[in-house]
Amino acid sequence: MSNPLSYEGKRVLVAGCFSGMGAATAKIVKDLGGFVSGFDIKKPEIPIDEFRHVNLKESDAIQSAVAEVARAGPIDTLFYCAGLSPVHPDFDVVLVNFLGLRETVEACVPHIPRGGSVASISSGAGMGYLGAVAEVSEFLALTDPDEMRAALEAKQSQPFYSAYAFSKMCSIIYTLQRGVTLAPEKGIRINCISPGPTATPMMPDFIETAGKGFMDRYPRPLGGDSTPEQQAWILAFLGSDLASYINGENIFSDGGTCGGVMTGAIDPTTLMPDPT
Ligand SMILES: NC(=O)c1ccc[n+]([C@@H]2O[C@H](COP(=O)([O-])OP(=O)(O)OC[C@H]3O[C@@H](n4cnc5c(N)ncnc54)[C@H](O)[C@@H]3O)[C@@H](O)[C@H]2O)c1
Repeated sequence: MSNPLSYEGKRVLVAGCFSGMGAATAKIVKDLGGFVSGFDIKKPEIPIDEFRHVNLKESDAIQSAVAEVARAGPIDTLFYCAGLSPVHPDFDVVLVNFLGLRETVEACVPHIPRGGSVASISSGAGMGYLGAVAEVSEFLALTDPDEMRAALEAKQSQPFYSAYAFSKMCSIIYTLQRGVTLAPEKGIRINCISPGPTATPMMPDFIETAGKGFMDRYPRPLGGDSTPEQQAWILAFLGSDLASYINGENIFSDGGTCGGVMTGAIDPTTLMPDPT
């Protein structure tokens, strides 16, 4: 029997391949036989097949880099793993975490063959997405960057508003909505994962912004933080033929936290920010 998790003969693009979960994904998929192209603002040390310096805040850079990759052959699987933590300016966070994702996906779609797939990283911070479908859908309909920036600025007065959480709700809702059209029209699956705390270079930023108290009491039913590899394996699975009937899905890969909060098994006040 052939290995359905194999990436032999597949051309894979990992956007955000320098560190953390993106680097782990690139390494695993390479070890599984894939030809791995990577995009990032920093050149990774892991041995991938080709690397392009791409700032995922820039639409033109994304378009031309994807076109270059596609000139050599199809893009069977796209993993979008780039992201910015909440320490960065709000619009930059939304640019990398959501707008760069959408731009990269839509640029790749014409080059992804039927049976191909997209998997990206959202976050447990987007866990409120079901209560924000109307608000997020309104934002997703905007095409003008100035209007997007103004819409985000207008949200800053909302209680508990966070551009990071909003960017993650955008990426989940975009994924779930796009799965409905991408699969029937193009035969491409699209999914995302929403990790809980994960031991990557981004972690100190969460401690800085959310507070050590918040990060310490964050419920972790499986114990400590996940490793980048534990998340990368889920992405590798979602991108593979093993997941051929999973589409338009967000997997809370957080050891059970979001499920517990959503069903009342975990007290949601444990996720309230530290008093300032
Ligand atoms: N670490 C966690 O606890 C955690 C939890 C949930 C979700 N996430 C999300 O996981 C994703 C991956 O983050 P990570 O934890 O692996 O952190 P990381 O900082 O190690 O990885 C982020 C990657 O994105 C790249 N990147 C940032 N800005 C870029 C830009 N403008 N253009 C191109 N590349 C850019 C970085 O160079 C890096 O390779 C992010 O979307 C993050 O929000 C992280």
